[in-house]
This record gives sequence, C-alpha cells and structure tokens, in this order.
Amino acid sequence: MNVIRGLFVTGTDTDVGKTIVTGGLAAALRAENLNVGVWKPVQSGTLLGSGETDAERLLQYTGIHERAEDVAPFTFQAPLTPMLAAKQDGVDITLQEIISAGQPLINRYESVLIEGAGGVAVPLTEDSLVVDLISELRTPALIVARTGLGTINHTLLTVSYLQQHEIPIVGFILNDGESDEIYNDSSIATNAELIERYCGISFLGRIPRFMDEINTELLIQVIREKIHLAPIRQALTVQSMEDE
Ligand SMILES: Nc1ncnc2c1ncn2[C@@H]1O[C@H](COP(=O)(O)OP(=O)(O)OP(=O)(O)O)[C@@H](O)[C@H]1O
Ligand SMILES: [Mg+2]
Repeated sequence: MNVIRGLFVTGTDTDVGKTIVTGGLAAALRAENLNVGVWKPVQSGTLLGSGETDAERLLQYTGIHERAEDVAPFTFQAPLTPMLAAKQDGVDITLQEIISAGQPLINRYESVLIEGAGGVAVPLTEDSLVVDLISELRTPALIVARTGLGTINHTLLTVSYLQQHEIPIVGFILNDGESDEIYNDSSIATNAELIERYCGISFLGRIPRFMDEINTELLIQVIREKIHLAPIRQALTVQSMEDE
C-alpha cells in the first residue's frame, strides 16, 4: 500500500459533527489552493441518491466534483454499525478491501480528509474497528467532540484509545451541534481547557451552531474564524517519514 497523505477525522460518537467539520476543513483548505480530497471509506444508514449520505454532503459542502460512489465506495442501507449493516446487505468486507477501494480516489489528490464512521471503537468489519483502519492507513487523527457536559470523558477516552494504538493526534475540535442544550450548560466555559490539561492534546477551536442553511461560503468563513488551521495544514502537507 502507498502511504497516504491525509488526516483521519474521527469523533467521540456518531452525530457529533464529523461531516460538517470534514467538509468545512476541506472547503477552507481548498480555498487556499491545497488540493485536498474527501473520503468516507464506509457509510451506513442511507443509500446514495438520497442526497443525505455523508459522501453527498461532503461533495455539497466542498464543491468537489467526484461521483458520490467514488467518495464512499461502500454504502449500506441499515442504520447500524458498518459491520452489521454490510451483513444485512449480504456483503462481507475486509479492511484491505476498504483501503483498496479508496486508492483511486486518494491518488487524485495531494492529500485527503478521511471521515470515519461513528467513533474509534465502532466495528467496521468482522475483525476490525475504526481504530484499526486508522492504524492501517498510518494517518494522524483529528477528534470532533461535543461542546457540552460529558465531552471531557468522551474525549479523554477517545484520546487514550488512539494513543494505545500509537496514532498521533493533531488536536480536537468542539462542535456546538444542532441542539439547544448547550445554552444552559455551564461546563462549556471550561471543557476545552480541562481536556487539554488532562491529556495534553491541543484544542483547535469551537464550531458554533449554524442557524442558517449550511453552504460552502458559510463553512469556509466559520472555519477561518474559529479553527486553528496551522496544525491541520501541516499534517496534510508535511511529507511523512515513509513517504520520503
Ligand atoms: N454546528 C452545527 N450547527 C447546526 N447543525 C449542526 C452542527 N453540527 C452538526 N449539525 C447537524 O447535526 C447532525 C449531525 O452532524 P454530522 O452529520 O456532521 O455528524 P457526524 O458526526 O458526521 O455523524 P455520523 O456519525 O452519522 O457520520 C447533522 O444533521 C448536522 O447538519
Ligand atoms: Mg458523518
């Protein structure tokens, strides 16, 4: 396998905002003329054509011209963890097949932002979890987490699990999400700082709740204003050791 120049966007859970962050980062970096692609190795819950799959949303957020089936070579209908969703569709996939299916897409870009499924300990195939995919790809990880109460625990556990697997972590981003709950949550003032203190991973910024329809321009503007892009840019552009 060629070494992939990329960054794996994982999260502390499903629905934390990985697609919004991945799409926003790709859009902002592409606006700086970095030829970044997006890859969703496996998705489940909705079929292509609905416009609502992560691959279709990533294309919409970034304006990248690719076929959705090339961005997400494996899409399964059931709203279940990819391993079970694949099984329901009668498909038996391996980690190597998932990686090989992304190779033609990866080759078209200088680097790729890869969106995981759910969190790091989500079953991907019969014998692998998302963390094993990240290990195999040998990319660093970026963590997307919720802003509010509970996020310290979820983020520290995610960091610890990635570190156990010796996966470098570029930082974490907190996302307000679509719920109103955080407006009465006094933990948000200290969550980022406490996560940094207890694990030493850098806080790269907080994405506010979008009140209007999300489009490329809005995403680029918010990412530029709120996110510390330098470590992300560096992770995507610095030649990896094995690559040299
Ligand atoms: N900052 C935000 N403002 C408004 N809506 C948001 C925000 N972040 C996420 N959402 C909405 O919350 C939902 C979940 O976000 P998203 O799809 O990005 O999560 P995810 O982590 O990619 O989920 P999955 O595990 O299914 O891939 C989506 O409907 C998204 O539009
Ligand atoms: Mg997603």
